Amino acid sequence: MIEQLTQLKEEVIEKITATENIKQLNEVRVAYLGKKGPITDLLKGMGKLPVEERPKMGALVNEVRAEVQHIHDVRKATLEEQAIQEQLEKEAIDVTLPGRPVKVANAHPLTRVIEEIEDLFISMGYEVAEGPEVEKDYYNFEALNLPKGHPARDMQDTFYISEEILMRTHTSPVQARTMEKKQGASFKIICPGKVFRRDNDDATHSHQFTQIEGLVVGENIRMSDLKGTLDIFAKKMFGEDREIRLRPSFFPFTEPSVEMDISCFKCGGEGCNVCKHTGWIEILGAGMVHPNVLSMAGYDPKKVSGFAFGMGPERIAMLKYGVDDIRHFYTNDVRFLSQFHRTEE
Ligand code: PHE
Repeated sequence: MIEQLTQLKEEVIEKITATENIKQLNEVRVAYLGKKGPITDLLKGMGKLPVEERPKMGALVNEVRAEVQHIHDVRKATLEEQAIQEQLEKEAIDVTLPGRPVKVANAHPLTRVIEEIEDLFISMGYEVAEGPEVEKDYYNFEALNLPKGHPARDMQDTFYISEEILMRTHTSPVQARTMEKKQGASFKIICPGKVFRRDNDDATHSHQFTQIEGLVVGENIRMSDLKGTLDIFAKKMFGEDREIRLRPSFFPFTEPSVEMDISCFKCGGEGCNVCKHTGWIEILGAGMVHPNVLSMAGYDPKKVSGFAFGMGPERIAMLKYGVDDIRHFYTNDVRFLSQFHRTEE
């Protein structure tokens, strides 16, 4: 019987050790330690033993049962721990996995150019000013030395709301509006905004586009101040090697008036397709504020002077980014827009 007991012990220990999960362990426990198991059978069979051997045998069986129970308990703890580990591994988040990309919108290329120019002029002490897109004929034309019937109006035909109200053709009316508001004080402003003209849309024309106006008014403002300012602008926007050239031009609200060209940033002046083989690229119009414009806004042209300039962000963006059709800016095609990622931020 002792032999039987030892054999049974070894067998059950082996089975317990071989279990791989709690379920298997439970099966072994029921089979060997349960009421119908062999150990219970052995205890039951003790009645057949001689009376003097019973206590010894009983103690032995109980010892084996306790030992087996202990081994079972240890195995149970191990398997439970293992199960928790497996569960944790299954639920673990792999922080090294690359994330799903979130689509981030970028500033529109025109907004970008406008903000870049604003930042530059703000750094030189300019304020940003704005004016209405639906404008009075007075501010769009008359206050800028373009009385009714002036031939230069023809170059800027637009959409009229009424005889006196129109969609502004340029940002220059903000010049007159700001001078009125400043009541004789000196100031420096930059004003970006939408403008409108009765143009047929093509690769270089649009019935709606943007402009940025600049205006400086104060005592002793000279042509050389304008030239120095435009030189800084050209170098910051198109590269430190840029040179500027001022050509005589005409605008009714400036006298003298100029067109500013920059030396070609592609060929450096040798001549290429970007500068149409001239070595120069036309960028903006500018000039000294006409005395009539100053006096209509309440400034004394004998005491103060000023310079003004106006440019088209579309043209600047087209040159800077090599865009060949102005319409790309307005059609909201993400294949175009997504190419303008802000890498510098
Ligand atoms: N307003 C002019 C235009 O739209 C540009 C300009 C602005 C010229 C300021 C001179 C001074 O063509």
